[in-house]
Parts: sequence; C-alpha cells; structure tokens
Amino acid sequence: MDLKHGSMDNNVVVREFNREKDWEVVEKLERNCEVGSRKDYSILTNTLGDPLCRVRLHPLHVMLVAELVGDGEVVGVVRGCMKCVGTGLETGQVWMSYILGLRVSPKHRRMGIGLKLMKSVEAWAERNGARYVFLATEENNAASINLFVLKCDYIKLSSLAILFQPLEACSKKNPSGDVRIEKLTVEKAISLYKDRLGGEKFFPADIDVILKEDLSLGTWVSYFKEEHWDGLHCKENDKEFLSKTPSSWAILSMWKTYEVYKLQVKGAPSVRCINTTLTHIRSKILGCLRAPSSCELLAGPFGFLFLYGLHGEGERMGDLMKFLWCFALSLAKDVTDCKAIVTEVSNCDPLCGHLSWGSSISRINDVWFLKKLGGGAGNDSINWTAASQLSRVFVDPRDF
Ligand SMILES: CC(C)(COP(=O)(O)OP(=O)(O)OC[C@H]1O[C@@H](n2cnc3c(N)ncnc32)[C@H](O)[C@@H]1OP(=O)(O)O)[C@@H](O)C(=O)NCCC(=O)NCCS
Repeated sequence: MDLKHGSMDNNVVVREFNREKDWEVVEKLERNCEVGSRKDYSILTNTLGDPLCRVRLHPLHVMLVAELVGDGEVVGVVRGCMKCVGTGLETGQVWMSYILGLRVSPKHRRMGIGLKLMKSVEAWAERNGARYVFLATEENNAASINLFVLKCDYIKLSSLAILFQPLEACSKKNPSGDVRIEKLTVEKAISLYKDRLGGEKFFPADIDVILKEDLSLGTWVSYFKEEHWDGLHCKENDKEFLSKTPSSWAILSMWKTYEVYKLQVKGAPSVRCINTTLTHIRSKILGCLRAPSSCELLAGPFGFLFLYGLHGEGERMGDLMKFLWCFALSLAKDVTDCKAIVTEVSNCDPLCGHLSWGSSISRINDVWFLKKLGGGAGNDSINWTAASQLSRVFVDPRDF
C-alpha cells in the first residue's frame, strides 16, 4: 500500500491479537523496531515462543494490533494489563492498567498509529474498570514521551533507577560470616510485605499470587548473627515475628525473568553503538552497559534475575542489602544463561544510595507516567500530582 505522511485514522483498524494469524508478523514487527540504525549488529528478544509473555501473568491482559485496511498488514502493537495497587495514600487501593510494548513499524510512524493504539488500549482499560493507567519509558525516548504527554495527557510521576549488574563483571564476594541470610516461607513473606510495604504506591493487592508464582524464586532476609529474629521459623503465632525484627534487617525477592524471555546482542556492539532507537526493555538493559567488556560477556542469548520487594530497616540496612545482593549474584551464577541481575527502585528510596556500590553496577533512569481515565481530575480523591515524587514504590516483577 502506498502511504503518504499524514493521518491514517480511516486506513487502520485496531483489533485484538490473533495467535494463529499474527504470531509471525508481530515477531517480525518487533524485530524491525529493534534493529536501530546500524547494520553491523542487531538486538533480539527471544520471548521463548510467547509474545504475550510480559502481560500473561496478570489475570486480565490484552494485546492489540494495528492493521492496514486493504492488505491487512500489521504495522503496530501494544499490550495492556489490569492490576489492583496501593496508592501510597490513605485512600487504599485502585484498579490500574499498565501499558507496555507499544511499537509501530518504522515505515509507518508519524501517521497517528501510535496514538490510535494508545486510545484503544486505554478504552480497553476503562471498559474493564481501570481508574488510572500508567506506563514507563526511558528518559531519552522523545517520541514516546511526546506521545504520552502532548497527545495523551499523561503526567510525569518520577524517575526510577534501574540497576543492572552483569554477573561476570563483579568480583566474587561471599556474604560475611557475621550475617545470617534466610529464606522465608511464602506465607511469612506475604505477611512481612503486607505489614511493611502494604501501604506503598503500586503495591500489588495480589502479592500472594506473585510470591506463589512458578517464576518466583523466593524471598530472603538478612540480619546480623549477633541478633535474633524471634518467631521467624515458628509456625504458630504466625504474626509475632513482625514485631520482633532485629535492629537492622533487609529483605528482597527474586524473579526468574530468565525463564520468560532472553536478550541477544548480535554482532560486536560496543557501548557507543548501542542506539537509543532500541525498544524499551532492550534499551533499558543495554543502555546500562558502560564497559565494552560487558557486551562481550553478554554476546550470546542471556537472561537475568530480577530482584524486587527490596526493603530494609535500621542503621545497617544498607550493608545487609549488599549481602543479599551478593547472595543473589551467587544464586544467579548457577543458572545456565543467566548473565545479570537487575532491579528497579525509586530514586528517592533510602535504599537507592546503598545499592550503587559496585563499579560494575550500572544505572539508568526510567520515567513513569500516569493518567486518570474518564477525565475530570478535579473530583479525584487521590492527588497523584502531589505524590509525584515516588519516594517508595513497589515494582511488580511481572511488569519488567
Ligand atoms: C513511539 C512510537 C510508538 C510512536 O508511534 P507513531 O505511530 O509514530 O506515533 P504517532 O504518529 O501517533 O505520533 C503521535 C505524536 O507522538 C509524538 N511523536 C511521535 N514520534 C515522534 C518523534 N519521532 N519525535 C518527536 N515526537 C514524536 C508527536 O507528538 C506525535 O504527534 P504529531 O505527529 O502530531 O507531532 C514509535 O515511534 C515507536 O514504535 N518507537 C519504538 C518503540 C518505542 O519506543 N515504544 C515506546 C516505549 S514502550
């Protein structure tokens, strides 16, 4: 079809992804979007046979495609899902939709297709009861930021820091003999998270589902051996351990992202040749790579372990979190093709400063945007703009 620059509103239909019909063409579209401007390398995502992999774990999710009227060519795609999350305010929880994986074929950009996909996925969210929509993009993605802010009226919430550490690039550190690291039962982890982080922004109401998922590797706590954590192993008096924490302690959970999808850098990229036109998740990861040696280490298809639910209390929580981080590295090293550990925390989170400690830990800013559906922000009881500094935020591992 011969396309001219301008609105394609009547020439494009947005419909739901059809597995039989669209599978190959969506994979091709993703590949076209991610090639960037260089010919000597390309970056591929291996979804391990599941283009819905990043939304599938939410009970309600959708994938929409934009199809040209006439020849039926699929030229755009977007995914959405629904979740019930904390507001960080006394108003409790709200239904929120998360939008991700928006792509338009390079040949068909600036014709209104991205906007049409956004409107369609927002309408899906609203029909399914979402009060808000949120999404994230890297801070230098001007096209998507303009689309979200200028055309779709999203407000910028805050930047979060994505921290990335290739496994081989770090020296092997074993947790100190002074520190105890223990795996929590799922029930204990649920209780502890609900008790300590239940009121945080974006805290998922279905934390129990997340922690019971097959992709969840588990939850660990660390504290100094000189102290005790009464009731941590006690099956009865289940909630007692919540009030008997040591003076300092830390907690995190691990998610087997390496089983969901893998990344592959083809060719011989160096940091300088990694192009900002790469798609969201890939540029999140690859944009983090500072040392060319990291690129060599990540030459084959690789997966990563995602750390989430990071929290600490007490004066020495920073040191205790470092021990958990090193512990996660040691676990990840035993997994075939797992080449990195990754986490995302709010820049204003007190833990953030403690986490940028290793020279091989790279950091990139991820910007979150939010929109109230149905218009009329005036009567909204939740003032998200006032809450625009995301001092603490619970990053859902299913969304990464
Ligand atoms: C971001 C993206 C989806 C936009 O798709 P698109 O179909 O070109 O967007 P639209 O034509 O609907 O553009 C709507 C508005 O977005 C903004 N915009 C889109 N592309 C832009 C660009 N390259 N530079 C600046 N602003 C841009 C403009 O405000 C535009 O309105 P205008 O054309 O009237 O000025 C597309 O560029 C893309 O697939 N990029 C790669 C993947 C990606 O970054 N996805 C988003 C992160 S999840």
